[in-house]
Amino acid sequence: MHALSLVFFMCVLFVNGNDNESASEHSLELTQSLNLARQELIQETCGRITWKWGLDDLLPSQLEHILVDDDHRLLYCYVPKVACTNWKRILMILEGKWNNTDVLSIPAGLAHSPGMFRNLSSVSKEDRDNMLENYHKMIIVRNPFERLLSAFRNKLEGDLPSAKYFQDRVGRRIIKAFRENPSNESLEYGHDVTFKEFALFLTNKSKELADVVNNEHWQPITNLCHPCLIKYTLVGKYETLLDDSLLALHTINASHIQFPRLAHTSGTSEKLHNYFSQLDLPLIRKLYKLYKYDYKIFNYDLDNIVGFDLG
Ligand SMILES: *[C@@H]1O[C@H](CO)[C@@H](O)[C@H](O)[C@H]1NC(C)=O
Ligand SMILES: *[C@@H]1O[C@H](CO)[C@@H](O)[C@H](O)[C@H]1NC(C)=O
Ligand SMILES: *[C@@H]1O[C@H](CO)[C@@H](O)[C@H](O)[C@H]1NC(C)=O
Ligand SMILES: *[C@@H]1O[C@H](CO)[C@@H](O)[C@H](O)[C@H]1NC(C)=O
Ligand SMILES: *[C@@H]1O[C@H](CO)[C@@H](O)[C@H](O)[C@H]1NC(C)=O
Ligand SMILES: *[C@@H]1O[C@H](CO)[C@@H](O)[C@H](O)[C@H]1NC(C)=O
Repeated sequence: MHALSLVFFMCVLFVNGNDNESASEHSLELTQSLNLARQELIQETCGRITWKWGLDDLLPSQLEHILVDDDHRLLYCYVPKVACTNWKRILMILEGKWNNTDVLSIPAGLAHSPGMFRNLSSVSKEDRDNMLENYHKMIIVRNPFERLLSAFRNKLEGDLPSAKYFQDRVGRRIIKAFRENPSNESLEYGHDVTFKEFALFLTNKSKELADVVNNEHWQPITNLCHPCLIKYTLVGKYETLLDDSLLALHTINASHIQFPRLAHTSGTSEKLHNYFSQLDLPLIRKLYKLYKYDYKIFNYDLDNIVGFDLG
């Protein structure tokens, strides 16, 4: 059999072999012990970092990624590019904003529509502290560079409507600032930003670009979710998304909802390598610095990208 068709065949087998949605790779007990270990590691790492600010120093807008579900006593800090569409859909079902439990039947755009969920920015300090003390607090994280690449490919390389929007609002400005002799077309559409230009843009400290550099799709998770100020009790990872989501659903007593299986993305580390090899080492190092806390706090490493640790 030809190697490619063998791979294809095995993928089909893999999908069929796993279509029992309720079956997880690991038991809830094992997943829970991993979850506890992650929490401990976060505490430990945060203990070694001196933060200059506490929760009360944050602006309300810095808490707006934390969605509130009182009925299930759940706070969920959503992170774009880390399964947040599916979890927002689940929140809709939990909050009675959708009338069946078929997660994927909810249009993604609806799950992301403004005002759909209550968030922590509008909660009084007293209620906030009470929630932080007593609610389940969930976060799902992902390898920082993998998330970054996913955002780049999805928003600046892609040709979906949401990519057009980003190319128009962000891509054009990146090309204007970082490309020598851009074509009229590139300036007009912002459709062909290279990964290197994107990296230069992210690491450029100029105020002029700050509004788009601080976009939620590439902001460090640490800035969006404050893991050293908020003790997350459900720490999921993209790499173990299904198990971690099942544990979360179990914990909030919502096991009747089936978490959708993702189509397995293939060749992730190869893709990472291809894109990051377009950057020189000093630029990778600068980029790493931006995501340093995400790397450390969530226990990721750089091995799969440059083959050694820049930390
Ligand atoms: C699916 O998984 C559940 C729980 O592990 C098991 O009870 C059930 O028999 C499985 N169903 C099929 C069709 O394999
Ligand atoms: C958070 O809530 C505030 C107040 O209700 C709202 O204005 C804001 O758009 C919400 N933010 C997000 C990201 O949902
Ligand atoms: C579910 O909601 C949709 C849209 O709000 C509505 O059209 C439909 O009739 C509802 N179905 C049921 C069974 O309530
Ligand atoms: C690009 O735009 C400038 C100014 O509008 C024009 O002079 C030039 O001819 C255009 N170049 C191309 C290749 O279309
Ligand atoms: C930021 O970008 C501007 C415009 O391209 C450039 O002149 C400046 O040197 C860059 N600054 C840094 C720190 O990279
Ligand atoms: C869990 O859900 C079941 C059925 O939906 C309900 O009977 C039970 O009281 C709930 N338990 C908790 C702790 O909320």
